Amino acid sequence: MNEKRRAKIAVLGSINMDLMIRSAKLPLPGETVIADTKVENPGGKGANQAVAAARMGAEVTMIGCVGDDSFAEELVQNLKAEGIDTRHVTRKPNTTSGVAVVMVESSGENAILVVPGANALVGLTELEQARQVICDSDVLLMQLEVPVETVIAAAAIAREAGVPVILDPAPAPAGFPPELLNVDLICPNQTEAAALLGKPLSSLEDVIAAMPTLAEQGPRRILVTMADQGAVLFDGESVQIIPPFTIQAIDSTAAGDAFAAGLAVKLAEQATLWEAALFASAAGAIAASGAGAQTAMPNREQIETLITKQ
Ligand code: RIB
Repeated sequence: MNEKRRAKIAVLGSINMDLMIRSAKLPLPGETVIADTKVENPGGKGANQAVAAARMGAEVTMIGCVGDDSFAEELVQNLKAEGIDTRHVTRKPNTTSGVAVVMVESSGENAILVVPGANALVGLTELEQARQVICDSDVLLMQLEVPVETVIAAAAIAREAGVPVILDPAPAPAGFPPELLNVDLICPNQTEAAALLGKPLSSLEDVIAAMPTLAEQGPRRILVTMADQGAVLFDGESVQIIPPFTIQAIDSTAAGDAFAAGLAVKLAEQATLWEAALFASAAGAIAASGAGAQTAMPNREQIETLITKQ
């Protein structure tokens, strides 16, 4: 790619308003916990990845839906303020925008409940309207907070146009059509990889051993993120471990989104899979060291500085 041309990323996915609640510990089922703070900020796995990719220097188009409630305008304006093309963000009448309740405990661990709202209406009509954008992109990046059938159809459009597809299979689907994983690369976390396999993966060794079986489900390349153990990369032939970056984890929310965006941007820039994975790992680490979802998405300079320092 010409040095001056920015990578073009199409992100198809969710746009949410996050209600983020911090407390000393997450509640157990049936338990009530008094929390410390509450903030409301734009989130959604799709929108988070779009924001991260834009901050990393890519030209980003967001494909998704918002409702016609009070959040809708704020969510769209927020994407525009990040320099993201929102022409393919459709406003759905008589519908609420996606909303997430994100609970974060002091260890940085989180638990999230999502009400899909308009995200559940990202369908084949919206996809057809965005066909050209997908075909003109260097990478199509998707997650699973929008209907699986739309994700499968979008991947088919990209495949036909020779555009690489990265799928972040989050949240992990319970029972999914086999063609869902017919993509160039998936980047699940350990829990999502276990859900895709249908069996627990409790250690790094388990994940390494599971790579060929995961690959049999369709993805050409796989990166499993392992929090403070780094990431496991499978390029179709061999497995490599991406070492973790040392950071003080404050909030793991959207760390996986920063990781997925990092992969998409670097692969769109024709980096090797190893280089892309390193960049993505640094992006995820920085995201986990800050509070919130989009508020913690790193820019390119921060990522490159961390890689140089490590
Ligand atoms: O990945 C983090 C995101 O998951 C949050 O922003 C929330 O909206 C949910 O989609």
